[in-house]
Amino acid sequence: MRRFSAEYLERTRQGMWSDSRAALSDLDLQNRRRVLDVGCGTGELTRVLDAETPPAATVIGVDADPDLLAVARHETGLPMCAGDASRLPFRTASADLVVCQALLINLPDPSLAVREFVRVSDDLVAAVEPDNAAVTVSSTVDAEEGLEREAREAYLRGVDTDVALGGKARELFETAGLKDVRSSRYHHEKRTTAPYSEVELRSAARKASGAGLADHREELERATSAAAYDDLRRRWREMGRSVIKRMRAGEYERLERVPFDVTVGRVPANGPAGDR
Ligand SMILES: C[S@@+](CC[C@H](N)C(=O)[O-])C[C@H]1O[C@@H](n2cnc3c(N)ncnc32)[C@H](O)[C@@H]1O
Repeated sequence: MRRFSAEYLERTRQGMWSDSRAALSDLDLQNRRRVLDVGCGTGELTRVLDAETPPAATVIGVDADPDLLAVARHETGLPMCAGDASRLPFRTASADLVVCQALLINLPDPSLAVREFVRVSDDLVAAVEPDNAAVTVSSTVDAEEGLEREAREAYLRGVDTDVALGGKARELFETAGLKDVRSSRYHHEKRTTAPYSEVELRSAARKASGAGLADHREELERATSAAAYDDLRRRWREMGRSVIKRMRAGEYERLERVPFDVTVGRVPANGPAGDR
């Protein structure tokens, strides 16, 4: 299982869904009674689901990583449950919405999880999945945009799951027997401008030390070579030092746009194969 730190999830999700929740409208949250957020991590989406559902609704976060669940429990105060997405510890048709965010892109066989979501929901199944091949970055540090693209393209070649899954969730949903499959797109925009937050300063420090890139060393080396990775890391750290310099002058600006596809389908009355 691919593991994530609580710090990474909190940093990358910052501001997500705080500008607009229009792309979640097909989840019909105001009419939900029992919702599962599978692969909830630190509970960034669980919190949004809880805010958008009626007070009497139950929203439960599920994750395979007990450390992240402990953080989610502490940060959200919501019920959390340990479980694997492909074998959920819930009865058939015991929820009216099973949803995930950035989970399917991390699974070797996402169709197994979608089938399990269909078993556990008696109404809606939804996935909020990024298309990491379509991420864009603009920056006042000239080298940053090109280096981000170079690293992203290599990572996409080296990683062993489909991290650009995004809109392909529609096909997975239809194959799993879901009906009325609809999708909409949400752009998570992360803007960095002066004055800089603690998180932004830490992120710049991680660029200058190469720590952010090192998290993906395995995938980058698999796609290129150890020598190419070392060269990329050298140029990346140089770029990081320029970022810090521009920040000190209050002149650094960066905009990252990550597209997320929100896909929603309905479980047919008699189950996908009429076997309920
Ligand atoms: C990229 S994080 C997304 C977290 C959260 N949904 C969010 O958007 O911030 C992926 C999450 O899926 C969890 N995960 C990975 N494989 C899993 C599995 N087989 N079953 C349950 N959770 C899993 C990880 O522990 C992690 O919390």
